Amino acid sequence: MGNTDAARLDGRVALVTGGASGIGQATARRLSRDGATVVIADIDGEGAEAVAKDIQNAGGLAEAVPCDQADPDQVAVLFERLQRHDRLDICVANAGWGRFGAFLEIPEKTWRRTFEINVTGTFLICQAAARRMAELGNGGAIVVTSSSGAVEPVALFTAYCSAKAALNMMVKIMAYELGQFDIRVNAVMPGVTETAMTGGLLATGARSYNEAESPLGRLGKPEDIAGAVAYLVSDDSGYVNGAALLVDGGGSAYNPGWFGTDFRRRGEASWILRHEQVPVQEAGNA
Ligand SMILES: NC(=O)c1ccc[n+]([C@@H]2O[C@H](COP(=O)([O-])OP(=O)(O)OC[C@H]3O[C@@H](n4cnc5c(N)ncnc54)[C@H](O)[C@@H]3O)[C@@H](O)[C@H]2O)c1
Repeated sequence: MGNTDAARLDGRVALVTGGASGIGQATARRLSRDGATVVIADIDGEGAEAVAKDIQNAGGLAEAVPCDQADPDQVAVLFERLQRHDRLDICVANAGWGRFGAFLEIPEKTWRRTFEINVTGTFLICQAAARRMAELGNGGAIVVTSSSGAVEPVALFTAYCSAKAALNMMVKIMAYELGQFDIRVNAVMPGVTETAMTGGLLATGARSYNEAESPLGRLGKPEDIAGAVAYLVSDDSGYVNGAALLVDGGGSAYNPGWFGTDFRRRGEASWILRHEQVPVQEAGNA
């Protein structure tokens, strides 16, 4: 009866990749609270199992499947498992990976791994999900976890930002081609969010710097991103298709970036974390 029911996911089946940790874990928990049956796929099978158990203990329906989304054989096994369900309404292709490194020094292996997990892996998951949704004929909602780095360059993060930018384009074209099946495809672009992925960076002065630079005075929480995903997979967003939603507290609208160097030192960049706060007076502006 209530008109808020458009946000409810009762009876729907949702796949979440990278659901053992961080944003994916918060998303799995949120979609379960909203009524969905959740299938958690992660390269960390034990972690995925622990999250699924936790959701079950809270009264939800969840299961875990170990899966490296960059491996086509493992993705095939995952979708065989999904055949046990007679529906697939939601796919959150969320697993991702990145490493910092100056462009001149990025190992080819790091570049390839970044693209394998973020781009090829997301493609494999989205294609298999879209095929299943089209076959079942009930429409669906796919959300890809991109990054504010897809639209804001981050020094020392070339491979990751390039991969996420590729995902934004993939989402737009998928949205266009899959509309005929009532499958909507959107991206979320988190800003700096407190997860294992950012743990190392946030253990430095970069935490205080990022909090200070965020218009909302804080970093993102996994639940902040999960809330946006919950909207994008619900009927509340029934006419949102091909969008890339920034969920970054407004930070990337004016973001000088984490890393800087003094470019007057020609050819010998010395990258520093930009977390030293220089008072305006010292900048000669009193
Ligand atoms: N944390 C941030 O600040 C931030 C910002 C923008 C975008 N993102 C994106 O959000 C997504 C989730 O990251 P997070 O911050 O929650 O990090 P996280 O490290 O907490 O979680 C990532 C999860 O993905 C899993 N994973 C990694 N490689 C995988 C693979 N090949 N196959 C299956 N699972 C794999 C990991 O085991 C882990 O459980 C990623 O796509 C990341 O790029 C994160």
